[in-house]
Amino acid sequence: MKVVHTVKETRDQVREWRKQGLTVGLVPTMGFLHEGHQSLIAKAVEENDKVVVSVFVNPIQFAPNEDLEAYPRDLEADTRLCEATGADLIFNPEPEEMYAPDFSTHVDMEQVSEQLCGKSRPIHFRGVCTVVSKLFNIVCPDKAYFGQKDAQQLAVIKRMVRDLNFGIEIVGCPIIREEDGLAKSSRNTYLSEEERKAALILSKTIKLGQEMVEAGERDSKKVVDAMIKNIETEPMAKIDYVQAVDAVTCQEIDTLKGEVLVAMAVYIGKTRLIDNFIATVD
Ligand code: PAF
Repeated sequence: MKVVHTVKETRDQVREWRKQGLTVGLVPTMGFLHEGHQSLIAKAVEENDKVVVSVFVNPIQFAPNEDLEAYPRDLEADTRLCEATGADLIFNPEPEEMYAPDFSTHVDMEQVSEQLCGKSRPIHFRGVCTVVSKLFNIVCPDKAYFGQKDAQQLAVIKRMVRDLNFGIEIVGCPIIREEDGLAKSSRNTYLSEEERKAALILSKTIKLGQEMVEAGERDSKKVVDAMIKNIETEPMAKIDYVQAVDAVTCQEIDTLKGEVLVAMAVYIGKTRLIDNFIATVD
């Protein structure tokens, strides 16, 4: 497996594979890879002849008050995980390789990016759409893989691919959890021992919401209110949002019908964690 740092090296390698008639899968990541990422890479390896993993902490999707500097990085461990999982190439550019000093073109999205995380992170999806567009143009994959844990991001990318005719198949992969239920996330490393225990309120609350929907509750306010009440039992938790939305448009809904996404962002201490469930409701 190769690790490259430039757009040119990545393009040259992909061109070589294309000459041989091989298919290419892309797994975009910000590194510090865990079993969640590994499941995306494994799926990509299963479905493509060659797999590129991008490892890039994208500065333009972080607001100035967010954790860009603190975001964990470990390229050596990432390389080991990618190699063991069967990836063929890591693209690990420096920010200067991706963004010229006078970089001035962004991909902006309305509607899907406005609720949920878009409310408290107003520039986030502009940064995500811009970097993912660049990665799509650099790698030109047949398929690209994203985790369901970032359910709004997945919906945003699907909409962007449709709207801008990228001609890439977007594959969403299920949330991978720790044994006790906490959704895997690179940001879990920020948690102290006490916070790690408190963070279980997220997955417990997801389970509660899921059970209410399974039991037939269709009033989204009732589900969201019960989830909020449950989170409030944890003194270390501070709610950013709990919302029920249409899973495709990410617009708020009163009645749970069709494919629905119930998502939350909760601070445990200074760490902002997200979790969600998707249900198909008659
Ligand atoms: O989900 C992530 O890790 C990032 O948002 C992504 C898609 C790699 C873009 O930087």
